[in-house]
Amino acid sequence: MRYLTFALAKGRLARTTVDLLERIGISCEEIKDKDTRKLIFTNEKEGYRFFLAKASDVPTYVEYGAADIGVVGRDTILEESRKIHEVMDLGFGKCRMCVCGHESAKELLKSNEIIRVASKYPHIAKEYFDNVKHQSVEIIKLNGSVELAPIVGLADVIVDIVETGTTLKENGLEVLETVTDLSARIIVNRVSLRIEHERISKLLTDLNKILKED
Ligand code: PRP
Repeated sequence: MRYLTFALAKGRLARTTVDLLERIGISCEEIKDKDTRKLIFTNEKEGYRFFLAKASDVPTYVEYGAADIGVVGRDTILEESRKIHEVMDLGFGKCRMCVCGHESAKELLKSNEIIRVASKYPHIAKEYFDNVKHQSVEIIKLNGSVELAPIVGLADVIVDIVETGTTLKENGLEVLETVTDLSARIIVNRVSLRIEHERISKLLTDLNKILKED
């Protein structure tokens, strides 16, 4: 049997996904071992293979068919804009992509001035300011702790993920605008959707069923 291969964004998302898959009878004991440094796991009996990748690489593996299925946040899907099919909202990992900053930056967002925007998500930020707000911006790509940018004067605002809002609050910042809602999604390779139609359809139906029960 051909393996059905899953690319999971390593970390909390992968752990939640593994638990969810287990509930529909797709299991892999080895992947649950917290101490393992292995990146790829196989369930020989049922023909499944799972690998753990950096979130931003999951859509790439799926686009090229190295994985049939991927589980990753919508933030990553939007940022990477790969040729993949997004087929299901798993409903967990809910958060928002927001424009954040000091309260005083609200005025700048209404002005015609070119503003500086720092983000780990330069494409999402650019697309929002170009196509939704029609405001000229200079995007500065950062790789983490983005909340620092408006505090130290690197940028006027940031575009970043807000989950509980604690990071913003503890740093004297606030949500100024919401760009979009986010959550974990299932993505599928375009060819796999045809050649593995049966197995993938069953997987999605089974997942739908248990998500409705929750
Ligand atoms: C994310 C995000 C925010 C924070 C939001 O950062 O970029 O900084 O979580 O969560 P909260 O609203 O619950 O406080 P992450 O923890 O991934 O670290 P990073 O800043 O290094 O990217």
